[in-house]
Amino acid sequence: MYYNALPYLQCLKCCAKLTIEEVVLAADQEIIAGQLVCRACQNIYPIRDGIADFLGFPQPKTPAQITNELPLTAWGYERLWRPFALTVISNKHFPYRQELPLIINPINPQEGGLYLDLACSNGLYARALTQAMGTANGHVIGIDHALPMLREARKRARQAQLRISYIRAEVQKLPIMSNASQGVVMGGSLNEIGDIETCVQEMRRTLVSHGRFAMMCLTQAISQHGKIVQSLLSTGGIVFYKLADLQALFERYGLHIQTYTQNGIVLLFHGNSTTIENDNR
Ligand SMILES: C[S@@+](CC[C@H](N)C(=O)[O-])C[C@H]1O[C@@H](n2cnc3c(N)ncnc32)[C@H](O)[C@@H]1O
Ligand SMILES: [Zn+2]
Repeated sequence: MYYNALPYLQCLKCCAKLTIEEVVLAADQEIIAGQLVCRACQNIYPIRDGIADFLGFPQPKTPAQITNELPLTAWGYERLWRPFALTVISNKHFPYRQELPLIINPINPQEGGLYLDLACSNGLYARALTQAMGTANGHVIGIDHALPMLREARKRARQAQLRISYIRAEVQKLPIMSNASQGVVMGGSLNEIGDIETCVQEMRRTLVSHGRFAMMCLTQAISQHGKIVQSLLSTGGIVFYKLADLQALFERYGLHIQTYTQNGIVLLFHGNSTTIENDNR
C-alpha cells in the first residue's frame, strides 16, 4: 500500500477516516508494514507484506471462493488461464490487446484521481489502469478478499515498477470513502462475488457523480450445451446473468450502462454514475 491511498480509506465499522502508525517503508516508499487506526472507534487494520488487511481470518462462502484462497490458484491465474480465458470462453480470438482498451479507455485514468479494481485477482486491470494513467496525479487501489491473489498482484505490480495499493476487503463492504473514486473496473468477478446487489450499491457509493465504470462478465448461455455447463458451475457459486437484468440492477442503484460489447457469453460494458435524488449516502 502507498500513502496515496490513505486519504480515501475509511473504517469499516464507523466510516471515520483512518490514520497510520508504526510504518515501515520500502525504498520506493511503499508501506510494507504498519497499522491503520480508527481514532473514533479504535478499530485497527494491519498492513503486512505491503497489503492492508480489512478482513482477518478468511471466510470464503462458495467452492469458487475457496478455490481462490489457494496459493496454487493465485500462482496459475495470470500464468496459465487469464491470457486465454476470453478466447476459450467466447470461442473467438480475444486477446488482452482487444479486451483491455474496452475496459480502460472509457475509464480515462489520464484524468487522475482514484480508480478501483474490484475483485482484482492478480491485478491485470489495476496494472493496465496505472500504465494508462501515465504521469497524471492519480492512484489505483486493487481490492480482493483472497490474500494469495493479492500477494501475486503486488508482486506483479512491483516487477512492472507500478505503484498500486492492494487491499484485502469484501466488494460488498469497501473501506473506501463515499464519492471518492473517478472510476471503477471489475473483470470477470460479478459472476462469483456472491451478493451482487450490495456490491453494485457500494460501487455507486464510492463513485463520484458522473464517475465511470467498466466491467467484464459472463452472461447466460443460449445453447443447450452451454446451459448444462452453467448449471454445473452454478453449484460452485458462479452465477450467470442476463444483460437486461444487469442493466435494470445497475440503473436501480444509479449506474447507467451506456455501451456494451458481447462475444458469445462474454459481455463487456461501461457507463456513468448518475446523480441520485435524495442521495443520503
Ligand atoms: C474471476 S476472478 C477476477 C479476475 C480479475 N478481475 C481479472 O480480470 O483478471 C474473481 C476474483 O474475485 C475475488 N472475489 C470473489 N468474491 C469476492 C468478494 N465478495 N469480495 C472480494 N473479492 C472477491 C476472488 O478472490 C477472485 O480473485
Ligand atoms: Zn471506526
